[in-house]
Amino acid sequence: MTDTVNLAIDYDMPLLREACTTIGLTTEICQWEDEEVDWSRFDAVLLRSPWNYVDRLSEFLAWCERVDASTLLLNPLAVARWALDKSYLADLAALGVPIVPSRFAGPSEDPASVVRDFLAEHPEATEIVVKPVVGAYSREVQRFTRSMETKAAGHMSRLCEEGGQVLLQPYFGSVDSNGETDLVYFDRRYSHAIRKSAMLMPDGTVNVPTLEFRKARVADESERVVASAALDAAASHLGLDRPLLYGRVDLIRDDNGKPVVLELDICEPSLNLPFGEGSALRFAEVLAERVGGSSSRGVR
Ligand SMILES: Nc1ncnc2c1ncn2[C@@H]1O[C@H](COP(=O)(O)OP(=O)(O)O)[C@@H](O)[C@H]1O
Ligand SMILES: [Mg+2]
Repeated sequence: MTDTVNLAIDYDMPLLREACTTIGLTTEICQWEDEEVDWSRFDAVLLRSPWNYVDRLSEFLAWCERVDASTLLLNPLAVARWALDKSYLADLAALGVPIVPSRFAGPSEDPASVVRDFLAEHPEATEIVVKPVVGAYSREVQRFTRSMETKAAGHMSRLCEEGGQVLLQPYFGSVDSNGETDLVYFDRRYSHAIRKSAMLMPDGTVNVPTLEFRKARVADESERVVASAALDAAASHLGLDRPLLYGRVDLIRDDNGKPVVLELDICEPSLNLPFGEGSALRFAEVLAERVGGSSSRGVR
């Protein structure tokens, strides 16, 4: 399932469909906004690239509810409700998962004092990041040096207009030299990982993570431990009765070199299948197993 604009940058879709065909699973691409689709006709609906939800979150979640009421939604509804808002980072932290220190703030707070207090609490941070809690593809994510305090507050206040929520984080400079590591799991099993280069340039340019910024990378043991802990914490927090079918955990190194969670993408992640040999087939196989023994298996 995709949307009307993002299929072209869903780099996983062709590989996944081909793998499904190989193992005898029928697929069809549908748009979530298409009101003509009768979702109950399908054995399962797989969330793939509905990335225009960013501007229409409540509408999208209402759609997820309708689908969930009529067929198997993957990942399940509880995941969509929780994982599309980066406030989940606070829940992960409460469950003992190391995350990038994050201060959440909303329109009821004064942006200038939020930024000032955050800088005071993080004297070690030479730069900070301000981003919306609901976002994707680096949208509205910005990096500010300490001397740009007023600009950071201005960005926060813009994001909070119309009731939005934001988060502030220290900017971890390791990403400039080492990138971030994005690990992909299927049914609790590590599949592959990529290195994603830094998206936020010192001059304020914000890159979007097209394929040229990604490279295959083998995640080390310390990264796998944190990524598995994040996925297990999510599944237990949500009370899921089965492990997450798929998930991506993005890690960066903190100032002590320890991997910490930057993002947990378990609803509609880009899975970097072009960078993981055999990964499309691995995904198709767990998907077929999850859709289960129905006589005419099909995934839309
Ligand atoms: N705290 C941070 N330290 C360093 N880089 C960051 C930080 N937060 C975000 N970035 C950079 O901005 C990009 C987008 O931010 P991210 O939190 O992943 O949001 P999105 O949901 O838009 O992908 C990241 O891939 C990373 O390059
Ligand atoms: Mg990201």
